[in-house]
Amino acid sequence: MSETPLLSARLLTRNYPGVRALDAVNFDLLPSEVHVLFGENGAGKSTLISILSGALRPSSGHIEMRGEVVNFASVHEARQRGISAVFQEFSLIPQMTVEENLFLGAEHRQGVFLDKRAMRAEAVRLLDELGFALPPNRQADHLTRAEQQMLEIAKAFRSELSVLILDEPTASLTAHETKRLFALIRQLTAKGVGIIYITHRMGEIRQIGDRISVLRDGRHVKTLSLDAADDATLVRLMSGRDVGAVFPRIKHPRARKSANAIDDAVLRLDRLSTEGGAVKDVSLHVNRGEIVGMAGLVGSGKSAAMRAAFGIVPVAAGRVFYGGAEITGQMPKQAIRRGFLYLPADRKHDGLVMMRAARESISLAALDVPPFCRGGIFINRRDEKRQVAALAEQLNLSPNQPERAVEHFSGGNQQKLMLARSLTRDFDLIVFDEPTVGVDVGARVAIYRFIAALAESGVTVVIVSSDLPEILHLSSRAYVFCRGRITAEIPRARLSEEAMLKHFFDKEQAA
Ligand SMILES: Nc1ncnc2c1ncn2[C@@H]1O[C@H](COP(=O)(O)OP(=O)(O)OP(=O)(O)O)[C@@H](O)[C@H]1O
Ligand SMILES: [Mg+2]
Repeated sequence: MSETPLLSARLLTRNYPGVRALDAVNFDLLPSEVHVLFGENGAGKSTLISILSGALRPSSGHIEMRGEVVNFASVHEARQRGISAVFQEFSLIPQMTVEENLFLGAEHRQGVFLDKRAMRAEAVRLLDELGFALPPNRQADHLTRAEQQMLEIAKAFRSELSVLILDEPTASLTAHETKRLFALIRQLTAKGVGIIYITHRMGEIRQIGDRISVLRDGRHVKTLSLDAADDATLVRLMSGRDVGAVFPRIKHPRARKSANAIDDAVLRLDRLSTEGGAVKDVSLHVNRGEIVGMAGLVGSGKSAAMRAAFGIVPVAAGRVFYGGAEITGQMPKQAIRRGFLYLPADRKHDGLVMMRAARESISLAALDVPPFCRGGIFINRRDEKRQVAALAEQLNLSPNQPERAVEHFSGGNQQKLMLARSLTRDFDLIVFDEPTVGVDVGARVAIYRFIAALAESGVTVVIVSSDLPEILHLSSRAYVFCRGRITAEIPRARLSEEAMLKHFFDKEQAA
């Protein structure tokens, strides 16, 4: 190719204790292209873009920008050259507002004073252009994960760009915001900007990508044009093997009439509303042996309803019943004792203890049951280790080192660590909140099979998901949420993406 690349990696290598995260990787980004980086969890994608964006130094190798060798000492330096990245892990300051985060390190000033008016105007303009409905004065830790994601993306857009790097930007966005983002990406490429785009979603790759580079175990496997590659080829390049059908066949129990179904409910919400109003007057039931899907846009209340049932979100009105007994307002710990587990979408904030060994995060939900504990006081270390090792194996944890700190695992492998928790004791009801966010195709298959096996062994399952195919293929019944309320209950026989989407928006939003 005669065109000079915007940005190139030349034999980039990065070592960590015990792991070579990148191994002599070459990579070129051309002007105006969307170059997808594809690979299993732990393949080295985030490591590569961290180096390209100045966040991380290589152990060896170098970067070239328009054919000229460059050394970035920091993210700031890379940004000055027009390279901006949105990382998998967010860099927002929780106590600061949307606009303060937006202009962090690039504040508008009038003399020595911050020019607050100019910043507010600029923030409003930028958010408006992006189509992100974020209040500029809201504190970052009061935003949902999707809103935080939008804010991170907005930060990248605030300066002149020649290279934009996005690490799984749509992992917690819904169809609507994703569409906006793709439109913006097209505007940028039309102006010559090059985009590096990391995603595990095959559908997205086709929609937005021009070329694709596959990484495996830290090595560059192949770069090819997306026209020339079918999905099966990509998955084979990524994993080095064939992966079968993504969704398992599930034997669902026969649908019962809903009148007596309520008597058999494992979980029942009766006119539930939460403090803050995320959930308004919601009634639903989940029967024994069912897999019930909860669909809806980000912020529609599907997740909040389940969090309230589990005891993480305060209940303002209404009641929660579990196995016939009322549990309204109980602590999560009590729910877990009763056999009810909720696995959160936000692994960093709710789910995992980042600095501690992965082993501890896995066994956290199980520490008061055998074999992890004997007599309720002592943790049996040897049994714990053996169990955890078996679980890590089952979920294909990479690297398979349970003693490694959680924060040192790649994003998708952190997700697996959280799932491993549901395996550590017998639960009657497990709520999976966005179970496959950031997970590679191979692991996704493993997670779906795992959920199917749980259901077939008699565990009742709830899947909260923004991924419609996921709900469609796994659920025996689904509820759709919109603005805190249930807008539809759809039985298996009528379940389709269209049927669910129809209830995603109320009249006001559709207008
Ligand atoms: N700070 C760190 N300390 C030790 N090992 C690390 C660190 N960061 C990453 N690694 C290791 O480097 C390898 C590559 O990780 P990386 O985050 O680049 O993967 P990835 O392709 O982005 O995966 P994912 O799809 O799960 O996000 C993994 O084996 C990971 O455990
Ligand atoms: Mg990553």
